Amino acid sequence: MMNVDLKKMVAEKAVDDYIEKDMNVGLGTGSTVYYAIKKIGELVAGGYRLTCVATSVQSEELAKKCGVAVVDLNEIDSIDVTIDGADEVDNNMNLIKGLGGALLREKIVAAASMKEVIVVDESKRVSVLGTKTSLPVEVIKFGHLKTKYALELQGCRATLRMGDGGPFETDSGNYIYDCRFNSIDNPFFLESRIDVIPGVVENGLFLNTATTVLIASGTGKIERLGE
Ligand code: 5RP
Repeated sequence: MMNVDLKKMVAEKAVDDYIEKDMNVGLGTGSTVYYAIKKIGELVAGGYRLTCVATSVQSEELAKKCGVAVVDLNEIDSIDVTIDGADEVDNNMNLIKGLGGALLREKIVAAASMKEVIVVDESKRVSVLGTKTSLPVEVIKFGHLKTKYALELQGCRATLRMGDGGPFETDSGNYIYDCRFNSIDNPFFLESRIDVIPGVVENGLFLNTATTVLIASGTGKIERLGE
């Protein structure tokens, strides 16, 4: 099966298995969650009353196009289920996220969610985080070269993410450094080191955050980690 078919299959499975009428739902970001949002649009068209919160401007716009109303996170007490993607998943359901640039809102929404359902295809699976992708770290613009230097002291090569005609800007107006570690052997320790660097807004390690990971394999099967 093509990668895009796997994304559609796993995203729709998450909606089928976890979204119920009258829920508060978190909408993740990325090319896999794209299919979940479209499916949620079909549920809403069919009469489901869902209250949705988006993790990015991109997902908010897609949701609106699909007829799904989006509210501010401050307007609701908590989120029943969030469906989101990931860039790497290890065997303990720890994740790297943020290649799509939405890690800050994604982490806030995940923290407000009772269930965090992650949808990936098997290409995202790793035994050690950091072996396939860089770790995205969102930083404020002021003095960002100093922040980069402090990040590199943690053992990575940090590259400022570029967009059209200049540095990529997040929805919150910050920059992202993609930090290449090659292998992150102790993600909890690394997170504690990164979080105390002045200028760091958020990092893309999502540790003990996912309650479920659905992994689509090329044979058409979906493996479930967690609940
Ligand atoms: C965005 C993310 C995405 O969930 C992650 O990049 C996966 O995206 P895709 O499903 O397109 O591979 O963390 O910030």
